[in-house]
Amino acid sequence: MRIALTGSTGKLGTVVARELRASGHEVVGMDVVGTRAPDFVQVDLTDYGQVIDAFGGVGDTHSGVDAVVHLGAIPAPGIRSDVATFHNNMTATFNVFHAAVRLGIRKIVYASSETVLGLPFDVPPPYIPVDEDYPARPESVYSLVKHLEEQLAIELVRWHPDLAITALRFSNVMVPEDYAEFPSYDADARRRKWNLWAYIDARDGAQAIERALEVAPAGFDRFIIAAADSVMTRTNAELVAEVFPDTPHARAFSDHESLLAIDKARRLLGYEPKHSWRDHV
Ligand SMILES: NC(=O)c1ccc[n+]([C@@H]2O[C@H](COP(=O)([O-])OP(=O)(O)OC[C@H]3O[C@@H](n4cnc5c(N)ncnc54)[C@H](O)[C@@H]3O)[C@@H](O)[C@H]2O)c1
Repeated sequence: MRIALTGSTGKLGTVVARELRASGHEVVGMDVVGTRAPDFVQVDLTDYGQVIDAFGGVGDTHSGVDAVVHLGAIPAPGIRSDVATFHNNMTATFNVFHAAVRLGIRKIVYASSETVLGLPFDVPPPYIPVDEDYPARPESVYSLVKHLEEQLAIELVRWHPDLAITALRFSNVMVPEDYAEFPSYDADARRRKWNLWAYIDARDGAQAIERALEVAPAGFDRFIIAAADSVMTRTNAELVAEVFPDTPHARAFSDHESLLAIDKARRLLGYEPKHSWRDHV
C-alpha cells in the first residue's frame, strides 16, 4: 500500500514509518516539522487545503494514497494550553478524515488513546482489567478530543458504508531507551497507577497499525493497544489490592499481564505483542 503517515516525525511515527517500510509499504511522511527528504512532505494538518492537497499528490513524490495512518497530534494533556490542544488536534483530525473521504481513500487507522478509559483513574475504573466495553470517560481536554474523534469516526462510517476507520487506543508509548527507568517504578505502587501500570513498545504499536490496515473491515472499531505485560515486577494482585481494593475483577488476571486488556485486538486484529521491557533491562 501507499500510505500517508501523519505525525511521521514523532516518537511513534518514526518507528511506524520504519516498520511499515520494512514490510514493503510505501510511506509518505507528513508532519509540521521534519527534515527534507524524498518521502516526506511538510504539512500543517490544521490547514485543510494542505491536507487534501498532500493526500492527493505532491509534485512527483506521489499521486495519491491507498490509506491514511493518522498520528499527528499534541500527544498529551499539559504540553500546550487546553484550547491549543483542542484546536490543533480536533481540527487536524477533522481535516484528515474529511480529506480522505473526499479523495475516496477508504482506509484510515489513527491514534486514539488509553486516556479515554478514564485515566488517571483518580476515579477507579468500573472493573479490572479494563476493556473497550464501557463508555469513554475522558478526564482532560486532550482525552475529550480523542473521545470526540471516535464519535466523528462513527458518524463518518455511517455516511460512507465502505469506509473503514480504526481507532487504536494506544497505551503510553515507549522505545527501548525508556526501559532503563522501569525497575524504579516498583518502589511506589501509585507512581504508574494512572494507566494501570501499562505501556506499549512503539514497534508493537506499528504492528497493530499494520494489522488494522490489513484486516479492518468497513465500519468503525476501537482497540486498546498495549504491551502484553505491565511495567512492574510486583504482581497485579498486590498492586490492585493496594490501589484499587474496591474495584471488581472482570476476570482472573495473571501476575504481570496488561490490565489494559488487549484480548479484543488479539482476537479481531491478530495483534500479538512481541516486545517487553523485561528483555531489555
Ligand atoms: N506518546 C504516548 O504515550 C501516546 C499514548 C497514546 C496515544 N498517543 C497518540 O499517538 C500519536 C503519536 O504520539 P507521539 O508520542 O508520537 O507524539 P509526538 O509528539 O512525538 O509526535 C506527534 C507528531 O505530530 C506532529 N503534529 C502535531 N500537530 C501537527 C499539525 N497540526 N500538523 C502536522 N503535524 C503535527 C508533531 O510535529 C509530532 O511530530 C498522537 O496522536 C498521540 O496523541 C500517544
